[in-house]
Amino acid sequence: MQPAVIAPSILSANFARLGEEVDAVLMAGADWVHFDVMDNHYVPNLTIGPLVCEALRGYGVTAPIDVHLMIQPVDRIVPDFARAGATYITFHPEASGHVDRTIQLIRENGCRPGLVFNPATPLSWLDYTLESIDLVLLMSVNPGFGGQKFIGSALGKLAEARRRIDASGRSVRLEIDGGVKVDNIGAIARAGADTFVAGSAIFGSDDYAATVATMRREIAGESGQ
Ligand code: DX5
Ligand code: ZN
Repeated sequence: MQPAVIAPSILSANFARLGEEVDAVLMAGADWVHFDVMDNHYVPNLTIGPLVCEALRGYGVTAPIDVHLMIQPVDRIVPDFARAGATYITFHPEASGHVDRTIQLIRENGCRPGLVFNPATPLSWLDYTLESIDLVLLMSVNPGFGGQKFIGSALGKLAEARRRIDASGRSVRLEIDGGVKVDNIGAIARAGADTFVAGSAIFGSDDYAATVATMRREIAGESGQ
């Protein structure tokens, strides 16, 4: 298994001082920046676009930026995010008319493609795509808002996704997004996730570094030591 990655979702950051917030979580030991893009169409909320991604790069953020597109259509905006400095670009297969084409488009634009699975989206979308993506993102809430409760069926789904990834022999990250907290991240890691999005659990805490460190101990199975 690849080393664990902690990716704070900036959806729960203070947007009035976003650059400082991103610096603070990275200084606190986080690995990636999880960047939630919502369009008030595919999901009932509206957030940030390529200009904000570009602004973070201009501000000096060098960590990988993990762009989670909750938008429809998908393809038009992909080159804009690539130019804006995205590292990973993930999208929901239901939101794209041509999933394989979108994956290729992300790759051709120099980014790493990933597919996102809503709680009720079957993993069969991986049947003909796993060989061409770098990341599988399982939603453990319905997309659209931070601060929701973790949906337990995601644990069995993680185990099945882990089996598929290991059987493929490829180096593909398995990411979980939604309701990830200090007290469930250990079980999520044991179910097979290696990449952990956490929004409210990190940005809502008083001490980002302590929260990230506790999460790492739980992922490593060292709780209570
Ligand atoms: C939900 C977003 C998540 C969200 C997670 O649609 O994709 O990334 O910010 O927030 P928490 O960790 O608070 O559930
Ligand atoms: Zn997300």
